[in-house]
Amino acid sequence: MNVWISLIASLIVVGGLVVGSAGLAGLAQYTQTSGVLLLLGVVVPMLAFATFIVGVILQVVKWGRRPVPFPIATVAGQGKTLPWIKADYFDAPYTKLGVVGRMAMEVLFFRSLFRNTKMELHQGPKVVYGWQMWLWVFALAFHYSFLTVFIRHFRFFTEDGTVAFQAVKILESLDGFLQLGLPGVLISGFVLLGAATMLLLRRLTNAQVRYVSLLQDYFPLLLIISIAASGILMRHVIKVDIVAVKDLILSMLNLNFAGMGDKALAIGWMFYLHIFLVSVLLAYIPVSKLMHMGGIFLSPTRNLLCNTREFRHINPWNYPVKVHTYEHYEDEFREKMIEAGLPVDKPMSETQEAAAPEEKE
Ligand code: HEM
Repeated sequence: MNVWISLIASLIVVGGLVVGSAGLAGLAQYTQTSGVLLLLGVVVPMLAFATFIVGVILQVVKWGRRPVPFPIATVAGQGKTLPWIKADYFDAPYTKLGVVGRMAMEVLFFRSLFRNTKMELHQGPKVVYGWQMWLWVFALAFHYSFLTVFIRHFRFFTEDGTVAFQAVKILESLDGFLQLGLPGVLISGFVLLGAATMLLLRRLTNAQVRYVSLLQDYFPLLLIISIAASGILMRHVIKVDIVAVKDLILSMLNLNFAGMGDKALAIGWMFYLHIFLVSVLLAYIPVSKLMHMGGIFLSPTRNLLCNTREFRHINPWNYPVKVHTYEHYEDEFREKMIEAGLPVDKPMSETQEAAAPEEKE
């Protein structure tokens, strides 16, 4: 039962956010209270954005200040050592270019996830390791579709006719090449929803993964699923006035607050639900595991050279330690050791032998 508690708690939190914001926005629309809509659609997003920026900077500074006295890069190949042993340039990079190459393959293609294996106990009992490709496929689909959706949204933040707007429009036409329905289906939105759902199902159906899943694993997935679902619903089912959305967003960016209340009232409630959930996600990122987007670049297991066999690294904090060697120990206790019948490396010196009987007396 305990393993389900995290999921139930996350469902309650995300469900509360969805119902709460939809209810508030719907009520505000019904009573024509623009203040509540501005709170959900302007004030909360602005605060969330500020929290995101400050939170990310603080987290990166915190990581940057952590001392890394030892080279602890992970190797997945032969490290550079003697000249006649062939080193693996990308799996144990020993030059800066090699590190950049390995990092690029990690960030762009999730290379280490590609080599993910799964252990299973078969009849016998026999331990079997198999290649697990699906996590890599869904993770890749999830991240690339998220990036595409994110970039496409810049059409709301850029003035029509600008270069940035034209570039986003080109991406949008590529994304909507299927030309299904009106407004056209944008593939990345559906891929995002599907991949996030598959990542959630993996957590639920795989007993080992379910056992280690916590609220902080379910919550972001459920939140992203809700954001994608609300976006798709808004585009295809519960439509909102897109021109009014853009008007409101550009007024907010230009800090031109005149007449904002009327602009807010012209937009349907679904937009406020969507943007509120996005704001929660933004503010949550700096304190969550989603910070891996910045953390990967600061990870000493990935950004250091794998040259520990090539050079001897000495901890710069080493200080002279007072040691008590075995030789000293034996010198101190030789007499007692011989008395107790213990073997000694050096026999008693004559002087010690001569002095010993006197000491005994
Ligand atoms: C984490 C960030 C966000 C994600 C993942 C996201 C996701 C989505 C998705 C999947 C859609 C469905 C249509 C499509 O694929 O484009 C959508 C639509 C929409 N989103 Fe977002 N969204 C995000 C942020 C925002 C923000 C900041 C705004 C504020 C302007 C916004 C406003 C809209 C609107 C107005 C639509 C309807 C688009 C249309 O009808 O063409 N979204 N969103």
